[in-house]
Amino acid sequence: MKNFVFAMMAACSIFGASAQDLHGISLNAPSKQCGTDVMTAFANRQSCRSYADKELSLQQLSDLLWAANGVNRPEKGMRTAPSALNYQDVDIYVCTAKGAYLYDAKANKLVPVTAEDLRKDVAKGQDFAAVAPVSLVLVSDLSKMRGGDTPQNRLTGALDAGIVSQNISIACAGMGLATVPRGTMDKEVLAQKLKLKATQVPFLNHPVGFAK
Ligand SMILES: Cc1cc2nc3c(=O)[nH]c(=O)nc-3n(C[C@H](O)[C@H](O)[C@H](O)COP(=O)(O)O)c2cc1C
Repeated sequence: MKNFVFAMMAACSIFGASAQDLHGISLNAPSKQCGTDVMTAFANRQSCRSYADKELSLQQLSDLLWAANGVNRPEKGMRTAPSALNYQDVDIYVCTAKGAYLYDAKANKLVPVTAEDLRKDVAKGQDFAAVAPVSLVLVSDLSKMRGGDTPQNRLTGALDAGIVSQNISIACAGMGLATVPRGTMDKEVLAQKLKLKATQVPFLNHPVGFAK
C-alpha cells in the first residue's frame, strides 16, 4: 500500500499534486544509458548562475541523485561516491518549491522533511540559486565517523561532500542540466529547518535546473 501511494504521487508530478502535506516520493531506477560520454561531460562542465523556470522530470532527478551518491553495488550497499573509510557520511537534502526531502539512497526514495520551500535559505542572497527548481544540500554526519565531531573528521566530511559535489557537477554536465557548487547558504537556519542533529554539518549545495 505504501509503495502504491509513492507510485501514485510520482505519477501525478514529481513533487505531488497538493502542497498542503508533503509525501514521500519513490524515485525511478537510474537510466544508466542516458547522457553524454564522460569526456564530453568534462568538456561541458561549468558553473551556471542563471536558471530557467523549468522543472526537472522525475527521471532526471532520479538519475542525478543516483549519480551523486546512489547505491551502485547493491550486494554490498556501496555508493557512486567514495567516502573515507566507507563512512558514507554524506546525505543529500533535496529542496524544492513544495518542500524539502532527504534522499534515501538505499530505498531510492525521497523522505519528506518539511513542506517549507527552503531554497531562499540555501541561496542566502544569491537570488539566482532560489530560481533553480531544485537545490541539493550536502550534509556530512560526523557521528558516522570514528571519534565523532573532531577537527579531522570535519575535514573528512568536507572532502567527502566535495566528492559528491563533483559527481553532481559532472552528472549535470553529461545530462544537459545546469548547476554550480556553492559554499554559501544559511547554515544555522537550514540546520534548524532540516532538523539536523548537532553532528550533521552542511558543507556545500547545488542549485540544479536548466540554463536560461
Ligand atoms: C568549494 C566551492 C565553493 C563555492 N561556492 C560558491 C558560492 O557560494 N557561490 C557561487 O556563486 N559559486 C561558488 N563556487 C563556484 C566557483 O565560483 C566556480 O567553480 C569558479 O568560479 C570556477 O568557475 P567554473 O565552475 O565555471 O569553472 C564554489 C566552488 C567551490 C569549489
